[in-house]
Amino acid sequence: MAPTRKPLVAGNWKMNGSLADLGEIKTIAENAKRFADAASMLICPPFPLISEAVKVARQSPLEIGAQDCHPDEKGAHTGDVSAEMLVDLGVTTIIVGHSERRADHSETNQLVATKAAAAHRAGAIALICVGETEAERDAGHALAVVEEQVKHSLPGTVTALNTVIAYEPVWAIGTGRTPTPGDVAALHAGIRDTLRSKLGAESADSIRLVYGGSVKPANASELMAIPHVDGALIGGASLKAADFLAIAGVYD
Ligand code: PGA
Repeated sequence: MAPTRKPLVAGNWKMNGSLADLGEIKTIAENAKRFADAASMLICPPFPLISEAVKVARQSPLEIGAQDCHPDEKGAHTGDVSAEMLVDLGVTTIIVGHSERRADHSETNQLVATKAAAAHRAGAIALICVGETEAERDAGHALAVVEEQVKHSLPGTVTALNTVIAYEPVWAIGTGRTPTPGDVAALHAGIRDTLRSKLGAESADSIRLVYGGSVKPANASELMAIPHVDGALIGGASLKAADFLAIAGVYD
């Protein structure tokens, strides 16, 4: 029997939002019940908003996540935040290896794997991001680059329950451009194959693979219908409750 993968509709607020924007999370939380059977819903605000966001989402199926964590549990790491601290606040999921962190903070696959292991150690789901640059795609290397990232960004602690993989082509993030459905299908199938050889078919077939990069209400139903696309990681369109809920509406 084919495994059932409950889709994930996840919002990544990046370095956006202030206390005044918690109303958007409140609206999403109030509406989340409608989609709760069909999809998991997650918003990852910046660190300073997490505590308040957890309060706002309490009593609703909306989960609150974080955008990064340090590999260690605690210690002399000024400015860093551990996975344990985030879970202590009520975070269920931690994004690791987003391309903006790989680019801005020189994060390697190996570091991403240690951060994902830290999320697992703390009892959180690691949402591990992979994706090729435009130059890599133009050179015909998209699949090879992404397979390499999947091979080396996943720690030995990965299970189908504690990990989600996000395929986010770097050139599609924040640009309004998306790959063709055929390209998304090919990449997601390639990631699934890589997971099968790494983890075995049973585990690999149960891991959710979400697509990210310029997902909007207007293109969500086409993208979410692609085989092996088990939801979305949404940046810009997650900042407004109406847009985020319209995207989640694909699973209504
Ligand atoms: P975008 O960002 O939806 O604004 O393109 C996606 C992401 O970076 O997760």
